[in-house]
Amino acid sequence: MIDIPLSKATSIISPRLTVLVNTIDNQGELNSSPYSWVFPLSFNPPLIGVGVGKNKQSHRNAKKTGEFVICVVSPSFGQEAINCEKAHKPADKLWEKNRLHTQKSIIVSVPRIKESNAVLECKTKNLLEYEGDHVILVGEIVCAQAQETLDQVDPLLHVSGEKFRTLGKKLILKRRLK
Ligand SMILES: Cc1cc2nc3c(=O)[nH]c(=O)nc-3n(C[C@H](O)[C@H](O)[C@H](O)COP(=O)(O)O)c2cc1C
Repeated sequence: MIDIPLSKATSIISPRLTVLVNTIDNQGELNSSPYSWVFPLSFNPPLIGVGVGKNKQSHRNAKKTGEFVICVVSPSFGQEAINCEKAHKPADKLWEKNRLHTQKSIIVSVPRIKESNAVLECKTKNLLEYEGDHVILVGEIVCAQAQETLDQVDPLLHVSGEKFRTLGKKLILKRRLK
């Protein structure tokens, strides 16, 4: 074993799903940004958490409007999705500039990204602040839609920085607790 610098320790818990978090800003404009600190929090009610850096637009929007949509990213539009990251300053409509398209959501007013094969529409339940540079945006899933088989969803996985992976071999392992 080698020591991993503690500043990079979180990359041990990888790869993780790459998603676009969609929110609406004050002007009603769609903001769509890539995130990968995404984790399930509860089956009942169905809750999901996103680790969002303090001062991120997605955080402000989800707090203000009470809604957000998680759009799972596939390799087929991976680069376009990653290009939606705002490098140094705020930028508008990066999703449009990167030739992504929107589609109406079923329950929430925040639209989805049409290219995504799996989406979770969420109502903001909580924003958990703790000592650290991120907050946990907790969403209650009010609508979940995906392609018929998970193989069709084909998520792009984020390792860290500019490293990504695609899914490998499928394994079925028996679980003794039933
Ligand atoms: C693949 C990928 C994953 C990312 N994951 C996160 C994350 O989980 N949390 C976070 O705060 N920023 C993450 N970022 C950085 C945000 O995308 C970036 O800060 C973005 O500009 C935030 O947009 P917003 O201010 O519209 O929310 C990630 C970037 C990339 C490219």
